[in-house]
Amino acid sequence: MEPSKDYLFKYKGFYFGVETTPEYISSLEDFEINDSDIFIATYPKSGTVWTQNILSLIIHEGHRNGTEKIETMERIPWLEYKPPTTDLTKLPLPRVFATHLPYYLVPRDLRNKRASIIYVTRNPKDVMVSYYHFSKYMKTVEEIADFNLFMERFLSGKVLGSSWIDHVSGWYSHAEDFNILFLTYEEMKKDLRSAVLKICKFLGRKLSEEELDSVVTQASFENMKKDPRANYENLPDDVVDKHKGSFLRKGTIGDWKNTMTVAQSERFDQVLMEKIKALPINFIWDINEI
Ligand code: A3P
Repeated sequence: MEPSKDYLFKYKGFYFGVETTPEYISSLEDFEINDSDIFIATYPKSGTVWTQNILSLIIHEGHRNGTEKIETMERIPWLEYKPPTTDLTKLPLPRVFATHLPYYLVPRDLRNKRASIIYVTRNPKDVMVSYYHFSKYMKTVEEIADFNLFMERFLSGKVLGSSWIDHVSGWYSHAEDFNILFLTYEEMKKDLRSAVLKICKFLGRKLSEEELDSVVTQASFENMKKDPRANYENLPDDVVDKHKGSFLRKGTIGDWKNTMTVAQSERFDQVLMEKIKALPINFIWDINEI
């Protein structure tokens, strides 16, 4: 079954939500880069909002100490979904963007190793299950109530973000072209402090012990879930159905086991496991493994 044109369109082999346009995506090739720019690149449901929040906390003292109440979306806007109000060229430096773009559609200058990219991956069974629940909550994502059907769409890459394996393997196999730090959701979950330190080192930022503690505490699942900005609670009702979920849902490793049957997991493995094993990533599939 093909995805509904009400939700998705394809541009250069990649599925985008209809909130953007092919013309705008195409213009990003020439998007002017500042050397201090930071891009958070992910396949959907891999920990984007978490990483956005961490970066905002690292960079903005006013976020850390609670004196500035700026929506995450304004602070760290999407690159390919042009926000109606924010002029991306006028953001304070360092600018931080979030993107689900595949490696081959990002601004040209990134391929000249300018700016910094943080690419976050997550084990794909948790990604898929998170995506399935998200599709019920997010009105701009086509809801496929039957999980079997959703899984087939996911496995064939006919969802926003296209094929998970192509996205991840594309970025990993082109790492040499970029100034890039790879992180996994699971390592962030296992030891958030070390992950925050890794990000700081990559970006050449120094935080005091106190500041570091504050970032780690505020970026925990429990605290972010309570924070209306981190949980995107202010999104309008025509975008999300607040009765059907929230941005921060379970925030754990291995929740796929609560949705996938053994047969579904085997089908998934049959399609993807060989390719997953070829990736230079040691995925963690269960919270007890950390
Ligand atoms: P679940 O649906 O499995 O709970 P994205 O931001 O890329 O859309 O990813 C969303 C996923 O990241 C959701 O997964 C969400 O709960 C999880 N997440 C967000 N903040 C988190 C945090 N602080 N700790 C752990 N998981 C978090």
